[in-house]
Amino acid sequence: MTWLITGGAGYIGAHVVRAMTDARERVVALDDLSAGFPARLPANVPLVEGSTLDGDLLKRVFAEYGVTGVVHLAARKQVAESVAQPARYYRENIGGLATLLEAVAEAGIGKFLFSSSAAVYGNPDVDLITEDTPCAPVNPYGETKLTGEWLVRAAGRAHGISTVCLRYFNVAGAAAPELSDTGVFNIVPMVFDRLTRDEAPRIFGDDYPTPDGTCIRDYIHVADLAEAHLAAARRLAGRSGDLTVNIGRGEGVSVRELITVIGETTGDRRPPLVEARRPGDAPRAVASAARAAEELGWTARRGVPEMVESAWRGWQLHHGR
Ligand SMILES: NC(=O)c1ccc[n+]([C@@H]2O[C@H](COP(=O)([O-])OP(=O)(O)OC[C@H]3O[C@@H](n4cnc5c(N)ncnc54)[C@H](O)[C@@H]3O)[C@@H](O)[C@H]2O)c1
Repeated sequence: MTWLITGGAGYIGAHVVRAMTDARERVVALDDLSAGFPARLPANVPLVEGSTLDGDLLKRVFAEYGVTGVVHLAARKQVAESVAQPARYYRENIGGLATLLEAVAEAGIGKFLFSSSAAVYGNPDVDLITEDTPCAPVNPYGETKLTGEWLVRAAGRAHGISTVCLRYFNVAGAAAPELSDTGVFNIVPMVFDRLTRDEAPRIFGDDYPTPDGTCIRDYIHVADLAEAHLAAARRLAGRSGDLTVNIGRGEGVSVRELITVIGETTGDRRPPLVEARRPGDAPRAVASAARAAEELGWTARRGVPEMVESAWRGWQLHHGR
């Protein structure tokens, strides 16, 4: 197989490229470099600079590289930006996906893997979120992921494409410092950012119905997530149909517990500031990891300290202290 990895120069995409090339899969990356960096890619992986919105380019790339499967990660991913610019998110995330799927169908490509998100669930009041928990996204970003899944499955049925939708939970860490997330949109880099500015980390609400009153999330190391893509790609290569899978550890960690691990890693143990709740934050969002183990033969191996330590090495490389 030859896999096209869209968003391959991004944070997660570069880890997927690495996991797949380490496993001797043939890959080519496509990225418009709006948020990605070519330096994240190994020298032997071709990078096509362009957009998933450019159908003619996609057709040329499929033909030139003999692409037989697609791993589609390219998307805009900032929740607040999606609330402010919903039409842009629908145009880029859904429009890009629709253009890509048309080109995939026309080229007769039979395998498609889609980056979805726990954001499709919204804020369900359950202990463990299974893939059958009803989806009710609470922002346009999550809506584009849920609509994207519908589109992927419909195109799969219409054109005989085998599909997998991976619903990632809270991604953190880096397989190598140079591959780390350079954005400050998730909790780990947000806390690093505060500490680097000589400010205390912030906790938004400590009166939730959880053991320590702070929100609980399921954190997944990006290197584990990349291995889940490899497992899913191999499943796609061998079987047909569609599959939707949570990618998490199945273990909840509270914001306060996470900040404690960050304090131990960085040596900066200043007490966090407790501020008001943010609208839309669910008290708890933890994956059931059972289907991933069953269907993909994949289980996360790395814990939160490893995520934080590797993310901290990446932060120091990109931001200094
Ligand atoms: N990071 C997370 O915590 C998280 C959680 C759940 C789901 N996801 C999803 O995983 C995927 C990758 O996220 P990431 O964290 O690596 O983000 P990222 O911004 O680092 O990577 C996205 C990459 O896609 C590229 N891109 C964006 N739009 C494009 C387009 N139209 N055509 C070509 N390239 C385009 C960007 O330049 C970037 O390199 C996204 O689909 C995101 O929604 C991420």
